[in-house]
Amino acid sequence: MRTHLTRNGVILGVATLAVGALGAPAQAADPATLSAVILGVGANETQRIVTWYSSADSTQSVQLAPAASVTGGEFPAGAQTFAALGSANIASSGGFNRHATITGLAEHTSYSYRVGSEGNWSPAYTFKTQDFEGDYDFLFYGDPQIGASGNVANDQAGWTDTLNVSLAANPDAELLVSGGDQVETANTEAQWNAFLASDKLRQYPWMATIGNHDVGGKAYEQHLYTPNTDRSGSYYSNGNPASNTSGGNYWYIHKDTLFIDLNSNSYATSQGGGGDAAHVKYVTDVINQHGAEAKWTVLVYHHAIYSAAAHAKDSDAKVRRVDFPKTFSDLGVDLVLQGHDHVYTRSYLIKNGQKANPDEKPGASEVFAGPGGVLYVTSNSASGSKYYDITNPDNTGTSGAGNGADPLNPDNYWYNSVQNQERARSYVKVQVRNDKLVVQNIRSAAAAGQPVGSIVDDVTVRPYHGDNQQIQVNVPTAAPGEFGWTIDGHNGLVDLGTAVETAGEYFAAAGKINPIKVSDSRRSLSPWAISASVGDFVDGEKKFAGSYLGWGPYLATAGAGAVAGADVASGYDDDGKGLSVSRGLGHAEQGHARGSAVLGADLDLKIPGEVEKGNYRTTLTITALSS
Ligand SMILES: [Fe+2]
Repeated sequence: MRTHLTRNGVILGVATLAVGALGAPAQAADPATLSAVILGVGANETQRIVTWYSSADSTQSVQLAPAASVTGGEFPAGAQTFAALGSANIASSGGFNRHATITGLAEHTSYSYRVGSEGNWSPAYTFKTQDFEGDYDFLFYGDPQIGASGNVANDQAGWTDTLNVSLAANPDAELLVSGGDQVETANTEAQWNAFLASDKLRQYPWMATIGNHDVGGKAYEQHLYTPNTDRSGSYYSNGNPASNTSGGNYWYIHKDTLFIDLNSNSYATSQGGGGDAAHVKYVTDVINQHGAEAKWTVLVYHHAIYSAAAHAKDSDAKVRRVDFPKTFSDLGVDLVLQGHDHVYTRSYLIKNGQKANPDEKPGASEVFAGPGGVLYVTSNSASGSKYYDITNPDNTGTSGAGNGADPLNPDNYWYNSVQNQERARSYVKVQVRNDKLVVQNIRSAAAAGQPVGSIVDDVTVRPYHGDNQQIQVNVPTAAPGEFGWTIDGHNGLVDLGTAVETAGEYFAAAGKINPIKVSDSRRSLSPWAISASVGDFVDGEKKFAGSYLGWGPYLATAGAGAVAGADVASGYDDDGKGLSVSRGLGHAEQGHARGSAVLGADLDLKIPGEVEKGNYRTTLTITALSS
């Protein structure tokens, strides 16, 4: 009589049943037309916000599933849904807006999603998550301002090409950051459609920023729902969130970066908003409350305070240039991203409205921020819809609101390390690393004899760590881990030899299973169990029941929280089912240690005396359960 081992694995799933009201008439599919789908940032890296337009005011949602589980456009039964909220659009937009927040995303996962309702889903789109800790890159785009050239199709083509070029070169970029002015004319939906034409905006999260061309209507808010948004009157240029304007300030944390986005259209209290004082208070409050949750702080707003072209000397820019810098320095802001002037500039490190280090050389490739040093970057046009030529400094001084010349480079404004206008599309890439930010301005169209992808400017910013020394240790992500089992050693036949007739009543045989090695390196520390059973012992036409086999499991090598299963008597002893039904060999509870264990079992076979002579064999089927 012999026993040998085979294996199978079982994955436990949970099936859910949708219960509907019996007898209810079949529901007609919602006829809503769905459009303008855009993926936006959520409150942190585990979230995304999807926003879209609907022709009907119906109940809708976002459906989400791992992309690997979606086949032929069919979402699995276990797909998640996230209910949408929304409201009626303004009359000139028509229809309704919807948005839903996707939560609970996992690292390193490709997801498929679609919007709508059962029977009327949009096409499916995909996005991916990456590591939720550590280094990452994001891309920053200035003023697409679709329609600014007077030719929407041209502007759309340039914008789409910049998205394609930048994401082909940086497919793992994690965020697309807006410099504001998505469109030329706030409520012109044809321009919004052109802005949204590229599927890249459904694959990578867009961090919306409101520009002066977006502010004059509700279309910006209808199209681009943002997380943690404060829609107080203070952050609306006219002080009235209910009016036909868009606005609001918001923040979110992506990995180790706190992003704060301001509606810089609201700067004059005379127009009804809270002005710059409200923004200063907002930035101060957000950083005081959440700054410790991130290593980096990045501010984004539309109206550049340090730039070099048509808007460099604007009166409102001069006001902000006095109102903002000291607070940003005091709060340890690392990087400020701006738009509006359709020119690329990179500032010197600015502290309290002055050049932090008078010796910083123009165009330096590496800068070291002392206390309060802040880098300000203005992006050029990402679509090519409009460029502004660089203007000349004047004699209004080299600090604060002044637009005087840089003593080290008199063609430039005092605050700018680099000024560049090639009348060619570009974008800014920011590499966020352990102890540096690398900021690059990159051509998305050929210019100045340089190809697409060539670098206009490249600077590494080293942050200030105070007077003390900081010590950092990087704890890598543990391997996702696996649970599994193998036969420990050679999977030889478990030969129980020749049974011995005992007391004239039964035959007895004994042995041991080949030990089972269980390994569990999962971070989830989820419970597991190994069980086994045997079928009938068979020799040709002859057989006897597997229930006559019993066992006594034991822990040969402790680990992974393993506990040996209970003894099971031969059915000969207790008229029980022995190992003919599944019996536990070993298990571990939730929260157990990671590692491995070796499980063994003594086998105890007692066969009734009337069983015919033969050479019987059965199969021990081992089943692993884990969740
Ligand atoms: Fe602008």
